Amino acid sequence: MRIAQENLGEVCLIDVVPGMAKGKSFDLDDCRNILNVPYQIEGTEDINQVKGSQVVVITAGLARKPGMTREDLLSKNSRILKEICEKVKVLAPDSIVIIVTNPLDAMTYYAVKILGFDRRKVFGMGVTLDGSRFANIISRELKVPVNKIQPVVIGSHGESMLPMPRFTMVGSFPLTEFAKDPAKIAMLVKKTVERGKEIVALFGSGSAYFAPSAAIASLVSAIIRDKRIPLGVSAQLNGEYGLEDICCGVPCVIGEQGIVKIVELDLNPQEKKNFLESVEAIRNLNALLK
Ligand code: 2OP
Repeated sequence: MRIAQENLGEVCLIDVVPGMAKGKSFDLDDCRNILNVPYQIEGTEDINQVKGSQVVVITAGLARKPGMTREDLLSKNSRILKEICEKVKVLAPDSIVIIVTNPLDAMTYYAVKILGFDRRKVFGMGVTLDGSRFANIISRELKVPVNKIQPVVIGSHGESMLPMPRFTMVGSFPLTEFAKDPAKIAMLVKKTVERGKEIVALFGSGSAYFAPSAAIASLVSAIIRDKRIPLGVSAQLNGEYGLEDICCGVPCVIGEQGIVKIVELDLNPQEKKNFLESVEAIRNLNALLK
């Protein structure tokens, strides 16, 4: 919906559930007159329709149920992802692929391997969303306009994610200087880490979708409009941060080619330690992938 409404291009929804994608596409198509945006949208069960796509967003997979972590989804979702990536590799070899399926960083790593595309062209939407949640929670708790906050979250889009107070700007101050009180900052971080889980518990079934969709659309927009703006994504590291053979959340510059640049933050020893722990948690999941 957001991608269509922003007029970012023709949208094709694909879902294995019979009729679902087509029904949604009709419903969305019927908004065009009210919104006065002449977008093109269609829906199908046929994965072959991915052919020739410029951007492919993969959200397929089971969502969390209350009490589950994102990590619990690994075995089922990796099977679903594999099947899709094998098709995308053949049908849309020039596409940029955005992974949304959880556990996000392991699924991104798996997709990179199966697709075999240049690493700039496959990345995960994880910390993009966590950053927006962090900014929102800061805005609500500290009563700051949300557009004055530039959040930074790195590491896993999972239990060990790392909202970064020293790199998150509130106006022209780092959060650490703006808020000062370490207990308050720790509370903001904790709320951010638990936000997805909190929403899952409230829904009872399924996970968040409005903010994830906004995060996805921001990435697609950065690609289509070649914005070259900093956004956090799960990127494959190849020497950056001294790491290899891993996908995890880091700030990146996103443009028409996908990841234009991976930004290396100057982490202090404690931040580095936390980052390596988060990376280790992802590596443990990657080890379970076949
Ligand atoms: C979330 O954090 C769906 O992983 C996503 O809500």
